[in-house]
This record gives sequence, C-alpha cells and structure tokens, in this order.
Amino acid sequence: MHRLTFRKPDDWHLHLRDGAHTASIVSATARCFARAIVMPNLKPPITTCAQALAYRERICAVLPSKSRFNPLMTLYLTDNTPKTEIASAHSCEHIVAVKYYPVGATTNSDLGVTDLRRVWQVLEAMQSYDIPLLIHGEVAAASIDIFDREQIFIEQVLDPLLEHFPNLRIVLEHITTQDAVEYVMNSSPYVAATITAHHLLLNRNDLLHGGIRPHHYCLPILKRERHRQALLQAATSGNPKFFLGTDSAPHAQSAKETACGCAGIYTAPAALALYARAFEQAQALDKLEGFASFYGADFYKMPRNTETVTLEKRTWRMPLHFEFGDSHVIPLYAGAEIDWQQVQN
Ligand code: NCD
Ligand code: ZN
Repeated sequence: MHRLTFRKPDDWHLHLRDGAHTASIVSATARCFARAIVMPNLKPPITTCAQALAYRERICAVLPSKSRFNPLMTLYLTDNTPKTEIASAHSCEHIVAVKYYPVGATTNSDLGVTDLRRVWQVLEAMQSYDIPLLIHGEVAAASIDIFDREQIFIEQVLDPLLEHFPNLRIVLEHITTQDAVEYVMNSSPYVAATITAHHLLLNRNDLLHGGIRPHHYCLPILKRERHRQALLQAATSGNPKFFLGTDSAPHAQSAKETACGCAGIYTAPAALALYARAFEQAQALDKLEGFASFYGADFYKMPRNTETVTLEKRTWRMPLHFEFGDSHVIPLYAGAEIDWQQVQN
C-alpha cells in the first residue's frame, strides 16, 4: 500500500508549551490533526478554567490562517483544586478533561497531587459530571526503579482508584509496558489508554545506542523490546481502548543536551508518518484509521472528524532542528530519512 487516505486524526495527548515557543510549533500539529488534548503542565500550571481559556486563546492566536484546529483544554489537578472548578469545567465546552500528575513524576509536576485521598471529592465531582481523568501513571518515589514505575503505579494507585470510582472515565496516558496493556484490556469500558509513536518504534537500547541519546529520553522512559512488542500489538489490534496520543513534548536543545537533560521527545513534525511506519512494521496499516481517528473521539464522546488526510510512501529527510522561540528544538529522527509523507491536508 503506497497511498493511504483516512479520516483526519486527533492527538489525545500533546504539549504545546506557551508564548514564543507555542507560535513556532503549533502549526506542525495543526497540519496533521483536527483536535488535540493540550496538556496543562506549564510553569505555572493551568489549574483554573479561566487560565485554560486564556491559554487556548493564545494557542488560537498563533494558528496558521484558515486552520480549523481545535485545542481541547485540560486542568492540572493539585491537592487544592476546588470542586467548584470541576463544575465550571463541566459548563465550558473547551475544557474536556483533568490531568493527574503524581507529584514529581515528570516535567513540571512539582505541583501535582501528593496523595489521591486529598482530591477524593474532586474525583467524585468528575465522576458525576462525567469528566475524564487523564493519568500520568508512574509512581515518583526515588526508591522505585525507574523501569518499574508504571507497573507499580497500576498496582498501588490505579487499581484502588478504579475500585472506588468505577464510573469515572480514565485515560492511562502514554502507556509503555505489557502490564499496562493487559490491565487496560481487562478493565471496564471506562478505562482506555493512549500510545505514543516513539514507544511503538523505540526500545530502551535506543537510549544508549553507541552513546547516551538525550533526544530519546522521555517519561515514562523507553522500556525493553518485549514491552514495545506488546504496545504494537495493542495499537494494531483494533481494540478501541487504545488510541493515538503523541506526547510530543518539545524542549529547547540546550535543555536536552546538558548534564541533566529534561524528559520529552518532539515528534509532531512527523507524527502521522511515524505511526504509519510502526503500523507498517506490524503489517497492520488497515488498523491505523481506527487507532488514529475513531477510538479516541468515541471515548471522549466527540464526533469523528469528516475531513481526510493522505499519506504516501515517499522518503523525505527530517530537518536537523526547528525554531523554538528564540532557540531550537531537535525532532525525533533529526537528519534521518522518514518513509511516509503527508501529502494533503
Ligand atoms: C513531558 C513534558 O516535557 O512536558 N515529558 C515527557 O517526557 N513525556 C511530560 C509528560 O508527559 O510526562
Ligand atoms: Zn505528556
């Protein structure tokens, strides 16, 4: 199959940053995706509806003219989120979910939740308003091996949470392990997961192949090959519990290439091509449309898009860097050949 036309997809997990940084990256996503769930982990984080709406305006202000890209906003859950904010979110069409970062788990999560029991009433309100909870599913304790953090989160935090809130819609974001795949598969229809392109294409050897590779460092960290295979299997299975979320997370080159580089992989410039590469590897290109364009919309109870996109099997070279405010961001596969190309909006 050398040409693929399918319904325009959505990105159900994305970082757009803010200010000058947003201006230079938003068009990459708007080109491939009709909508995207925009993460609230700014500095300071987006914790109120008013902040989310102002942030949305800033994003819309830098969209290419004629773009109909729709940023779907989220609130950052803290120990102090008031229940009233959930009621306000419910009545605002642009705010679609609340994000739970365990404190210290990832980039800009220092104001995340210290203990879920502190937000129990907020979760009750979300369940009753049917607002989805998006979860960064890793425990943050330094004593826990970084490769085990997702699995232990599932056992210690997620499982009791689901028991207590059986009707709360939950997206376990950017899953990385066979354990998470099996857990989501065996849980109720209220639980789904997003999968990134980089976790479908890379394993933990790619972090250290020939030297340390800061542009392959993200959280949750890349896992061993057995887990990559499980993710590929889940993404291409046609099971609607698994859908696309790039977790495209740009950082300035200087913040990545340093003694303590931050986590995040920038995939937006080739997002669809990278998913196509992964699905082709699994001989499952026919399953790409469901994963990329249908199941996420269905889970979020939004209409499926009506426009289409077309990809062709055609080689192009990923630029070495892109503008990022007044600095640069290095994309995944910088300078390398990419074998699929989007040819039509
Ligand atoms: C994300 C970021 O940079 O904001 N980083 C990442 O490695 N994925 C945060 C996140 O989603 O964990
Ligand atoms: Zn993310």
